[in-house]
Amino acid sequence: MAAREIPTKPYLDQKPGTAGLRKKVEVFQQPHYLENFLQSIFDCAPELKGATLVIGGDGRYHNRDAIRTAIAMASANGVARVVVGQGGLLSTPAASHLIRKLGAAGGFLLTASHNPAGPEGDFGIKFNIAGGGQAGEGLTERIHAHSKRITHYRIDDDADVDLDRRATVQTGSMRIDVVDGVDDYAELMQSLFDFDRMRDWIRQGHGLRFDAMHAVTGPYARRILVEQLGAPAASVLNATPLEDFGGGHPDPNLVYGKHLVELAFGAGAPELVAASDGDGDRNMILGREIFVSPGDSLAMLAAHLPQLPGYRDGVAGIARSMPTSRAADHVARALKVPAFETPTGWKFFCNLLDAGQATICGEESFGTSSNHAREKDGLWAVLAWLNVLAVTGKPIAEIARAHWQRYGRHYYQRHDYEGLPGPAAEAVMQAFAGELANLPGQQVGDRDVTLADEFSYHDRIDGSIASNQGLRIVCGDHARIIMRLSGTGTQGATLRLYLERYEHDASALAWRPADALAPLAAAADRLGRIGELTGRRAPTLVT
Ligand code: G6P
Ligand code: ZN
Repeated sequence: MAAREIPTKPYLDQKPGTAGLRKKVEVFQQPHYLENFLQSIFDCAPELKGATLVIGGDGRYHNRDAIRTAIAMASANGVARVVVGQGGLLSTPAASHLIRKLGAAGGFLLTASHNPAGPEGDFGIKFNIAGGGQAGEGLTERIHAHSKRITHYRIDDDADVDLDRRATVQTGSMRIDVVDGVDDYAELMQSLFDFDRMRDWIRQGHGLRFDAMHAVTGPYARRILVEQLGAPAASVLNATPLEDFGGGHPDPNLVYGKHLVELAFGAGAPELVAASDGDGDRNMILGREIFVSPGDSLAMLAAHLPQLPGYRDGVAGIARSMPTSRAADHVARALKVPAFETPTGWKFFCNLLDAGQATICGEESFGTSSNHAREKDGLWAVLAWLNVLAVTGKPIAEIARAHWQRYGRHYYQRHDYEGLPGPAAEAVMQAFAGELANLPGQQVGDRDVTLADEFSYHDRIDGSIASNQGLRIVCGDHARIIMRLSGTGTQGATLRLYLERYEHDASALAWRPADALAPLAAAADRLGRIGELTGRRAPTLVT
């Protein structure tokens, strides 16, 4: 049987969010749902015809079925070669790297990131373009528009492959390579970091723990940390990818990684405690008795980057998303390089990376990466820290203290109000927005407001403008309150409140973040009438 055209009816909800199309598994299991979306991509990205397409996912429930469908549709849509990770597994950064390395025209990344998996959980798909970054806003909108008027999709049921066996197969006019998903990525990491020194550091008995949370990074961590760097096998926790992620929530933060916080703050703590998320792009970094907030991690890694082999040529620029703490900006000033502020979403960094204007990027949502890929990279961040520890010989807490003494400290928290009814979340945004015009000249949290607006971003490289990217109140260098609605949830609306306060006096560097930020939290509640409009007395999640 050759390629067939199957009639279909559009679904009207195939609008991708911050990071691809993400829905409940049962939504994806509706007849033709995935097929419609994939066909919309093929129709809007004609460059895939005759080219190479990378396919892989985070191993969650529905991953294999979706990959088989994607392969069959790739063949029917004229793709010349599909490269798929063995077992259907590719971490998001590994997929990004593979697209770059192979000169592929794009990739399908089957993942809902850190969202819970299993039949009742979430599923998702991201389309990444040549170069390895996620499709931009324009293409994403075209795909969505197309999905609303689709009438047919093409599929070739003969194009099938045993995902568990590494092999090259020819089906019709398409070649399928089932490859080891770790090889190329591990090689890339070796080219960036000083594996000899890291191996010595581990051999000297410095302990480390990495939690793969039963998601995709297990095989990557085992290969690199255990086999290549010689860490004891027990250093990698939950290393086997499971379809339901072991029933857990692989989102490495202070809430879902609480066991790691206890480990890092307990007796006999290892020197580095870290984790990554479902698809391997997020990271959490802890040291003995210290949690390194993502904004600090970006700043501290940027400050040490030139000491790591892959970055000896120096840092061209540092980029962070708008809600991310401004700690990295101090480092950029000290290094005399530009600091960029982009909207939330890794895709906004890609033009800067492609243009060679940024070397390292980071987001408050536990994302850090460099110009080696066009996605954030959890294991990269862990290895970068490991390399910094090996080079400096200092524990993380000491590195952090020295950093704060030099640059000052940005106290930072994100408060999430999850699962709100849409209208309640909108009402808070409106209430907050309504206050902005009156604020400049007034005080918030004892500080003068210097700017209060809705953030929009002008990408100077491609000229595009992204508006509506969050509401912010800025008190000079001292403080910020930011509010926006999440673009990654699958249930109700999630309101995110970001609080930042900067202190540089030596006596103000060791406060508890919650205490330091309490006045700003109270001000935000008052301005957005959060309690009153949502009926919530507290956020569901504080990270
Ligand atoms: C994903 C994206 C990030 C983004 C994060 C939070 O991880 O890759 O770029 O920062 O989600 O997005 P949200 O819209 O939910 O705040
Ligand atoms: Zn992720």
